[in-house]
Amino acid sequence: MSETPEKDSTHFGFEEVPVGDKARRVRGVFDTVADKYDVMNDLMSLGLHRVWKSYTVAVAQVRDGEHVLDIAAGTGDLTRAFARCVGPGGMVVHSDINEAMLRRGRERLEDEGLIVPSLLADAQALPFGDAVFDVVSVAFGLRNMTRKEAALAEMARVLKPGGRLLVLEFSKVAAPLAPAYDWYSFNVLPRLGQWIAGDAKSYRYLAESIRMHPDQATLKSMMKAAGFAHVDVHDLGAGVVALHAGIRC
Ligand SMILES: C[S@@+](CC[C@H](N)C(=O)[O-])C[C@H]1O[C@@H](n2cnc3c(N)ncnc32)[C@H](O)[C@@H]1O
Repeated sequence: MSETPEKDSTHFGFEEVPVGDKARRVRGVFDTVADKYDVMNDLMSLGLHRVWKSYTVAVAQVRDGEHVLDIAAGTGDLTRAFARCVGPGGMVVHSDINEAMLRRGRERLEDEGLIVPSLLADAQALPFGDAVFDVVSVAFGLRNMTRKEAALAEMARVLKPGGRLLVLEFSKVAAPLAPAYDWYSFNVLPRLGQWIAGDAKSYRYLAESIRMHPDQATLKSMMKAAGFAHVDVHDLGAGVVALHAGIRC
């Protein structure tokens, strides 16, 4: 289900929209959900997103003094964890394309006494030179990007040779679980969104965008095409989520 860059339309959930419209509509979703983002994450996943993120941090093996870029970092869960690994000689950049999400993340980081640079940036055109980061992470962000191949190429470009990319994203669930997962996604999620955040539409988009995202094997080959020599795929929660860990060649 990889997108075709030449196409003049793309998907926004199950809807086909002009390529130029997707970013605006994704921005609308995150402008709307920013205030309730963290509480909704805990409720929707029953806290499991914390386990998936901790697993990602464990696989990343960020070391003292390393430079890390957290893309689509939103409210900053991974940024915060990485900031504790790099020590005073390292650096973590907290970045996102959405101002409301970035602001929420920045406030949370400051509340916890963590001072890191927060940067408004589109993953598809990163404002950094080549080969400057040891680690790049993107959690639950790639799915929302219009040009995923361009974003992966940018992630490869800003990584040093041998650098690690961690892509944590919803993926293709194991077949026996699919009916229950579909029922949960299309019945429970929008109702929960309406109840807690007064917004069913954004959570319907979440369920639809997950179905439109490349599966484990497709994303692995997209990462290889973008310049990652070795890509490990870790299925989490029977494929509800997958962590793709790539090494920049
Ligand atoms: C579901 S949130 C994930 C936030 C955080 N990483 C987490 O795991 O909790 C997805 C984020 O992707 C961001 N995003 C969407 N398109 C982006 C792009 N082209 N470049 C950078 N960030 C983007 C959104 O603004 C949003 O904050």
